[in-house]
Order: sequence, then structure tokens, then C-alpha cells
Amino acid sequence: MATDRKILLLGSGFVAGPAVGYLLRRPENHLTIACRRISHAEALANLYPRTTPISLDVNDKQALDEAVSKHDLVISLIPYTAHPLVIESAIKFKKNVVTTSYVSPAMKAFDQAAKENGITILNEVGLDPGIDHLYAIKTINEVHSNGGKIISFISYCGGLPAPEASNNPLGYKFSWSSRGIVEIPGHQLMQVAKPYVIYPAFAFLAYPNRDSTPFREFYNIPEAQTIVRGTLRYQGFTDFVKVLVDIGLLNSSEQDYLTPDAPDITWRDVLAKVLGVTDNSESNLRANITSRISGIPEEDMDRILRGFKWIGLFSDNNVERRGTLLDTLCATLEEKMQYAEGERDMVLLQHKFEVETKDGKRETWTSTLLEYGKPPGPSAMATTVGTPCGIAAQLVLDGVIEKKGVLAPYTLDIINPIIENLEKEGIKVIEEKVEY
Ligand SMILES: *[C@@H]1O[C@H](CO)[C@@H](O)[C@H](O)[C@H]1NC(C)=O
Ligand SMILES: *[C@@H]1O[C@H](CO)[C@@H](O)[C@H](O)[C@H]1NC(C)=O
Repeated sequence: MATDRKILLLGSGFVAGPAVGYLLRRPENHLTIACRRISHAEALANLYPRTTPISLDVNDKQALDEAVSKHDLVISLIPYTAHPLVIESAIKFKKNVVTTSYVSPAMKAFDQAAKENGITILNEVGLDPGIDHLYAIKTINEVHSNGGKIISFISYCGGLPAPEASNNPLGYKFSWSSRGIVEIPGHQLMQVAKPYVIYPAFAFLAYPNRDSTPFREFYNIPEAQTIVRGTLRYQGFTDFVKVLVDIGLLNSSEQDYLTPDAPDITWRDVLAKVLGVTDNSESNLRANITSRISGIPEEDMDRILRGFKWIGLFSDNNVERRGTLLDTLCATLEEKMQYAEGERDMVLLQHKFEVETKDGKRETWTSTLLEYGKPPGPSAMATTVGTPCGIAAQLVLDGVIEKKGVLAPYTLDIINPIIENLEKEGIKVIEEKVEY
């Protein structure tokens, strides 16, 4: 019989379920689920055997040390800014760590200490980052080992409602937090959003993420002329956000009239303030918005204003004052744009590689993952983030992944076993080749 393994899971967000379910298939695994609020830990722990819920504030160094010291491995699903605290404690007690977050400079700073103490801090093992790296490295390696070159690498990923659940003016819903909308880039990036075909049935717009250049080094493709990583949304979303940006509704400065102790204020009045008009009638607000926006065709503008109405921006509903316009709007969006019971989400990831083979032939290679949520089971997002995380944690526990340091899945020794196990879980990336 295998020796008992003790795993400390920090955080119980919706991606935790598939990771926990995966790990607990092995009878030797025991999980402690730690959240600041014990009720959150209990809610998850109640669904599985061999789990213990505890209350833990990771800012309490002593409590964190005590918890970390009693386990074999830590999975940290809390916000990435708290990972350095966890890594510091893990190094002190020589425990391995797995996260789904990007390696931040503050995390990377522990690389040497992790190596010296012989521990593995494996990050970026979710979907994006995570599955995207696995299938980028796999193909790039295959091309290079056959003497070929990567001319261009273009990769887009979207976590979206399934088509039938895209039933609102933004064609978007919040599966975790509305902070998603905050990451939406400003004017310029929204203007470079372009229609993008993966499957003709999906009306996607794609826009590049801020900076993809480090991936030239991370993916070892110095020869690539083009490297783009970006985000997919349904068409309509970007126009809508452009109007929100243009009239100033995504402003992230504090506004006096939105502080918690300011008097109640309706959306109609907030909109009038933002537009700088005194007549707060719906018709005047509509006319004023339209007058400020250029470059959007009339019929699209009608749809966008219908969206404003649907969100309640012309209404006499009081806003939930959250200090800034951005946060106040997010509060309303979060409420309106939830998944209803039984609605599916969808994850689509596609890499497109332009390849030049050893004998000078041009080929296009694609790697595509399309996954739907399975209500009332886990969402596609939870499955595609949580499963690779659970797999990676098991591989570290089993000593299959044994590289030391602060790592991301950029090398074959790490990616191959994760891919092999993902496929066993039915998370399959379809790899195709188009010759010209
Ligand atoms: C955001 O709001 C602040 C305070 O009202 C204002 O000074 C600033 O110009 C606004 N920023 C933009 C980009 O509109
Ligand atoms: C919109 O409001 C601004 C004041 O912020 C004003 O200068 C402009 O004339 C208004 N446009 C329309 C069409 O009412």
C-alpha cells in the first residue's frame, strides 16, 4: 500500500473541484482545504472523502507555517500576489508547491532558494496559462527536431458562454469574477480586434494580449517573425466595450458620488454625470452617447444602446456604489451577466503555427481545444484549469516531475506526462496539418 500523502489546498474557488476530484481518486491522498472563511472550505470538503476543512489566513505567517509544515505538497489557488508568502513558507519546510498562476517576478525571485532546498514550485498549470504551453512546446519541439522552423505562432483563447448561452448584448458572462472586464485593454487594443475564424459557426473577434514577446524566449522560437497570444470574444463585445471606454464608464478613479457614504444615486443620474448633461431623460442620454461615438454603424449603435438599457443604465435603479465607475459598473454587470441554471460555458483554445520544414515547404499546423461545461457538473473553465492542476500535483507527488526551482511547463520532461494524463481525462487537443 502506498504511503499516505497529505496535500494542502489553499483556496476553494470554482476551479478547485476538478483538481480535488482528480487527486482524491488515489486512496493514499488526504486533502486539507484551507480558506480564510471556514464555511467556504467546508462547502468544498463536504463533497469529498478524506478532506479536512480549516480556516487559514495566509498573511498570518505562523499559521501558514504550521499548516505548510504538516503537508507533503501545497496547491495554491489563491490570488497570485499571495503566492510569495506561500513559497517562502514552503521553502522553509522543503515542501513542493503547484499553482495555476503566471510566474511573477516576486515568485521567480525564489528560484535559487527552491533549487538549493531541492523543491519544485510548478506554476502555470491551468488552461491559459497551462494547456496552452503544453501544446505550444509539444509542436515547437516536433518542428525543431525535424529540422524545421516556426515562422509564426498565433494563439487565441476564450472562456465564453456556449452559443445558446450568449444571450445578452455583450455575448459574455462572468464565470469567476467581473475583473475579467477590467483586463480589457483600452482604446487602441479594442480597435485592433479583428474577426477570426476557427470554426465558421462561431462569430469570434480576436484581440492581442498586451505583450507576447517574452514567449519568443520561453518557447525557444527566436526564428519566429510573428508571435501573438490573445483573447477571443464574440462579435459585439468589443464595440460595446469601446463605447463604455469612450464615454468614460470604465474610469478607475475614485468619484465623490460613488463613495460608500455618498447618498443613493440612480444609474440614470450617474450616466448624466459621466456625460456632463443635466437633462437625464433616456432620450437625451441616448442622443448624447450617440453624438460622442464615431466609427460605429447606426445599426450597431442601436444594438449597443439596447445593451445599455438591458444593463439598466437608463433606469432609476440605485447603483451599488463601489468608489469608481469601473467597479460600480462591474457590480451591475456581475449581477446581470451570470450563468443561469443549466447554461453551459465553453472554452476554446487554438494555436496556429506557420511552419517551414527542413526542405523549405510551408505548412500550417493547428492545435485546437473545444470544451463545453456539463451542468450541473463543472464548467469547461473549471475542468480545463483544475484538471491539469490536479494532474501536475499528482505527478510532483509521484516524483515523475522532479525538476527543482520555480518552474513553468516549458520543457518536455514536464509537459509530456501532463499531456498523457490529460488525454486520459478526455481533455483532447486536436492537432491538424494543412499543406499548401
Ligand atoms: C476619470 O475620472 C477622473 C475624476 O473624475 C477625471 O479627472 C479623469 O479625467 C477621468 N479619466 C478619463 C480617462 O476619463
Ligand atoms: C452631450 O453633452 C455634452 C456636454 O458634456 C455637450 O457638449 C454636447 O453638446 C451634448 N451632445 C448632445 C447631442 O446633446
